[in-house]
Order: sequence, then structure tokens, then C-alpha cells
Amino acid sequence: MMKIFVDTAMIDEIKEAESWGILDGVTTNPSLIKKAVDRLDGVSLEDYIRKILCTTHGPVSLEVAGSTYGDMVSEAKELYRKFNPINDNVVIKIPVNTHMEDGDDNFEGIKAIKTLSETGIPVNCTLVMTPNQALIAAKAGAAYVSPFLGRIDDHLRTNLGLVGGKDYPKDAHYPDEIAERGREYKLIELLDGKDLGRIMYRDEDVMKVFDWGNDDGIFSGVDLVWSIKEIYDNYGFETEIIAASIRTARQVRLCAEMGVHIATIPFSVIEDMMTHHKTSQGMKAFCKDVVPEYMNILKP
Ligand code: G3P
Repeated sequence: MMKIFVDTAMIDEIKEAESWGILDGVTTNPSLIKKAVDRLDGVSLEDYIRKILCTTHGPVSLEVAGSTYGDMVSEAKELYRKFNPINDNVVIKIPVNTHMEDGDDNFEGIKAIKTLSETGIPVNCTLVMTPNQALIAAKAGAAYVSPFLGRIDDHLRTNLGLVGGKDYPKDAHYPDEIAERGREYKLIELLDGKDLGRIMYRDEDVMKVFDWGNDDGIFSGVDLVWSIKEIYDNYGFETEIIAASIRTARQVRLCAEMGVHIATIPFSVIEDMMTHHKTSQGMKAFCKDVVPEYMNILKP
């Protein structure tokens, strides 16, 4: 079954999603914790994290802050020692590669994943932007990998010169905007009516057209997930894929169609997954049509 995690550190959102019976876990990162810190209301961050852990039965990813092997391993052990006894559901998030500047090592993250996994601490390998990173993380023993769909789409938009601020809001579904600009790029004729939303299916023609707008052969965030899934399926890796940096309900649906293990979804996108104006319209019409005789039957 596809698992749904909520990508937030806001306890009210976690509580709400948990109460619907659909929540299988939580993912946080330093930026999400920063948002929550503004709303601590006198509670210490440590107590707040304890509360999060008790709010869900599923795994909760907590990220390290360091960027060297030594720092990450010691922070991970500290997080796990402090918090795992509370509800036995802590997973440690380690960046796949902590490289920031020329000369930085590329394998600090991988080394930390190996050590922690061997110690029995489950690792969610984060900031995964390529299928090769996901392959190496799985070989190092990561329990989960988190490919960042939305950020790959951002990157592809930039490659294509499409970053237009308000023209392409965070929740715009890539590559829809390219389809909208199809005439300009002659895409409509070239694709001959093919659905760009299904770009992950590796259609030869689509690949040709996107030759000028890909990331080493990856054509969208959804395509990145597709490629990782293919690789894991080929070799029977047990590492679970968490589709992350999700921006739209449609990305969730595409991930579900390809059988991704987990999607970690912002609360607002989970809400979008439930809405359709025809449902609301139908609801209004049904409520209006309820006759008193029918109401009487319904009364206890
Ligand atoms: O799951 C990772 C996520 O929190 C990053 O999302 O939208 O900032 O790329 P975003």
C-alpha cells in the first residue's frame, strides 16, 4: 500500500492528518523546524519534538545539521538516543552529499549512512537529485531515499529559461507550463498530442523534444522518481522511496500510478488531493434536494 507521510513540523497539521486515519509518518527538515519554532508558545523545542513523536505511530524523520561525517554521525546518535525511546519511531535524515564548495568531500553523507545503518539506526537519505545518488545511498544501507521532485522541476525550469517568478508559482505542475508555451517551442506538433504529464514513461519522441531541457537525461521530478524505482526494482533493493518536495496533488497521483512506496506531502497538498469543484457542486445539489420525508427516516 502506498504510504502517506506529511512533510511538516507543525503539530496541528500532524494531529489533523493523523485523526483522518491516513497518516503513515512525518518528515521534517531544518527549514520546517524553523517554521515551527516561531510557534512554540513557550514549549521547548525538545518537548515539542517529543510531542510530534507521540502524535503519530509512523516513522518521524529528524535531520542532522552537520556536514562532516563525524558531526553527522554524532548528531544522529544523539537525536536517536534522546528521542527514539519516546515512541520507537525516529528515522535520521542524512543528506546524500554535503558538498557545498569546491574541495568539499562528496562522500561524507554516504559514509555516515553506512555507519548509522550498520549501527541499526534507520536513515532517510535526503536531498537526492539523481538516480545515481539513490543507487549509491541504497548500497550504503539507507532505509529510505528522498528524491526532491519539486526542486528538480525548479532546476529544469531554470535550464529552460522558464523561471518567471509569479508566472510559475510553486504549485504549478511542471511541465504543464511548457505545454502552455507549446507553440513557441513547437512542442505541440512534435509531441503530436502526447500527454506531457506522463513524461516519465520515457517516450522516445518526448525524450527527443526535451533533449534541450533535461538534467542528464532526467525530464521531470516525477521522471526522477520513475528512474529510481526502475533501478531499485531491477535489483530488489529494500530501500523505500519517499517522493519528496512534492508541490501538487497531480505529482502524488503520478507517483501512486507508478507504485512509489511513500509520498511525503505538505498538508495543503493533502487537502488539494481531496477537493474537486464538481464534488462540492454535487454536495450542494444533494443537500438542496433532501425532502422532509427522507429527513424523517434519517432521524433516530
Ligand atoms: O521533503 C522535502 C521538502 O520539505 C522540500 O520541499 O518544496 O521546499 O522543495 P520544497
